[in-house]
Amino acid sequence: MSDRNLIQELDRELEAKNFQGLWNEALWKSDAKLMTKDPKTAVLPCLWKWNDIEHYLRQAGELVGLDGKVERRTLRLLNPGLKDLRGQKHATTHTVHMSVQLLKPGELASSHRHNFGAFRFIVEGRGAYTVVEGEKFVMEPGDLILNPPMTWHGHGNDAEPIMWLDGLDYPLILSLQVLTWEPFPGDFQPIKESFKSAAYRVGMARPVWEKAAGPLAYKWEETYRTLKGLEGGEGSPFDGVALEYVNPVDGGHTFPTMSCGIQMLRPGEATQTHRHNSSTVYHAFRGSGVTVIDGKRYEWEKGDCFVVPLWSWHSHQNQSKKEEAILFSMNDRPMLEALKLYREEAGEGMPKV
Ligand SMILES: [Fe+2]
Ligand SMILES: [Fe+2]
Repeated sequence: MSDRNLIQELDRELEAKNFQGLWNEALWKSDAKLMTKDPKTAVLPCLWKWNDIEHYLRQAGELVGLDGKVERRTLRLLNPGLKDLRGQKHATTHTVHMSVQLLKPGELASSHRHNFGAFRFIVEGRGAYTVVEGEKFVMEPGDLILNPPMTWHGHGNDAEPIMWLDGLDYPLILSLQVLTWEPFPGDFQPIKESFKSAAYRVGMARPVWEKAAGPLAYKWEETYRTLKGLEGGEGSPFDGVALEYVNPVDGGHTFPTMSCGIQMLRPGEATQTHRHNSSTVYHAFRGSGVTVIDGKRYEWEKGDCFVVPLWSWHSHQNQSKKEEAILFSMNDRPMLEALKLYREEAGEGMPKV
């Protein structure tokens, strides 16, 4: 028998005993596809139009109730490049997920808790509320409300139809195989009407007895005041007047795994090009513009959502000469930083939008 045949026989024997020799030709050929200088990702750039999101959510609002069989009326933004073990599209990026939720007047979305972190960013409608650990947060457009892991939460609406973004780090938690989820005993957690400390937790003077950031609300009025206050300054060359929603206890990222940001592109502003190995999901909260991702133009307007995959060159431009454009975003940079893996490069010489 030739050496080649002997090696093949050895490989078969090893495979049957759950071994693999690194000399296996098929293995090192497939490994070579992964061992590249630049990171590779299955996440694809994708743009979801608000017209579609609103149309389908309102249609679902007529057809789908919150009757216990369906916990939430949410429209999930699925990346066309990502498939799970079942072969199904399942998340917005490989680490984070964004959905848009509609809650109609008179509806209650039952309480539950899970170990993936979540936030709500309110897009349209006001007066509904979310209850986190018994505390009631009234939702208004532009508010960001944090729902830390393992906090009980449910939503209620006795005002007008409301739509918000749900951001979650569940794809990461799922891939770590540590996911836990449980319903609240009794369906909807009681509201502690006397406990209203959320509005005082994000300022510079903080309660001394709280050692960790609990449920929080970053009110739009204050966020917008900060954006406007800084609009005459330099800003970030890659993101314009960009803010991060920081953890008020340690000044760190919004969550240990994901971060939320808001950026204003001033009228006519065009950013420089860069890339990083964190992925970002954007939502156009105000205005319109274009984002170029690896040379391809993605034109967005109010309400649209889009993904910039990791390591893609990208830049943004506000196409209006008169109106500001505001992008809300979420990314997985904190997770990469925690693992000492974060990388960023400026695209010197790259053409602007
Ligand atoms: Fe939840
Ligand atoms: Fe970026």
